[in-house]
Amino acid sequence: MELKSYLKERKELIDREILKFLPPEPEFGKKLYEAVRYSLTVGGKRLRPILCMAGCEIVGGKVEDAVTPACAIEMIHTYSLIHDDLPAMDNDTLRRGHPTTWVKFGEAVAILAGDALLNRAFEVLSEWDFDCERKVQVISEISRASGMLGMVLGQQCDLDAEGRNDVTLEELLFIHKHKTGRLITASVVSGGITGGGSEEEVEALKRYGDHIGLAFQIVDDVLDVVGDQEKLGKNVGSDIEKRKVTFVTFFGVEGARKRAEEEIERAVGSLKIFPEDKREPLEAIARFIVEREY
Ligand code: IPE
Ligand code: IPE
Ligand code: MG
Ligand code: MG
Ligand code: MG
Repeated sequence: MELKSYLKERKELIDREILKFLPPEPEFGKKLYEAVRYSLTVGGKRLRPILCMAGCEIVGGKVEDAVTPACAIEMIHTYSLIHDDLPAMDNDTLRRGHPTTWVKFGEAVAILAGDALLNRAFEVLSEWDFDCERKVQVISEISRASGMLGMVLGQQCDLDAEGRNDVTLEELLFIHKHKTGRLITASVVSGGITGGGSEEEVEALKRYGDHIGLAFQIVDDVLDVVGDQEKLGKNVGSDIEKRKVTFVTFFGVEGARKRAEEEIERAVGSLKIFPEDKREPLEAIARFIVEREY
């Protein structure tokens, strides 16, 4: 398997499919539609939907079955980025290589575009023509991961930690696991549920997701310091500017990278229950997470 072409092909599939989940354009209030469309089409790695599809396949499911949860998760992720960039939060101006949604459309429209994407995601999931029991499990998984004990809570804790110099490693781990880890875990787990994975398989995917999720945010912290703005497509140096505590604050760039690599090894270890010939995509995605430059 060639990772680069695998990621490209899967990203293109999501780029195509996600737009089909938009409702028809309304007669009035078109700005909202434009802002949603803009945010969904300017770019993004589509890592979470790719994980969802790969989670479905590793348990023996069909990739087509995972397209709906995959797109719903990407809508939720995109909403989280729109809100994360707002002046009241990280106050960033560049995202996915383009002006952030609030810069392009104004703050009020950006708030509403985020709200619209979050709700659309759950509309799409509830209308998904699929096995009802699995569908409810997937909805429960995704909503818990994004909600007030998941990503949203992580974002609150991230704001609470801003500018403080007494943040402990324990608190930082809590932030990272919630603001980023939970949705990444939910991506691969909901894929596993969709594909009809056994309890043991879904549990293994959860461990894999928890490890790559933490590694993903550690590398995000590293790239905020040493990344190339052009390649990343978002503002670098944003964390230092906002006096955020990150893994780099605690361990330095090299130390943080090492921590991320350790998490990746653990993630790969969690896949051992799956047959060797099926593990390759998730193993390769895990390695991509630490090696990426964008
Ligand atoms: C950025 O996520 C936000 C974090 C949780 C660190 P991604 O790096 O996956 O952003 P896109 O979707 O590729 O733009
Ligand atoms: C964002 O973390 C996490 C969410 C959007 C939920 P960051 O604030 O570090 O993400 P970037 O660096 O802006 O992409
Ligand atoms: Mg943030
Ligand atoms: Mg941010
Ligand atoms: Mg960041």
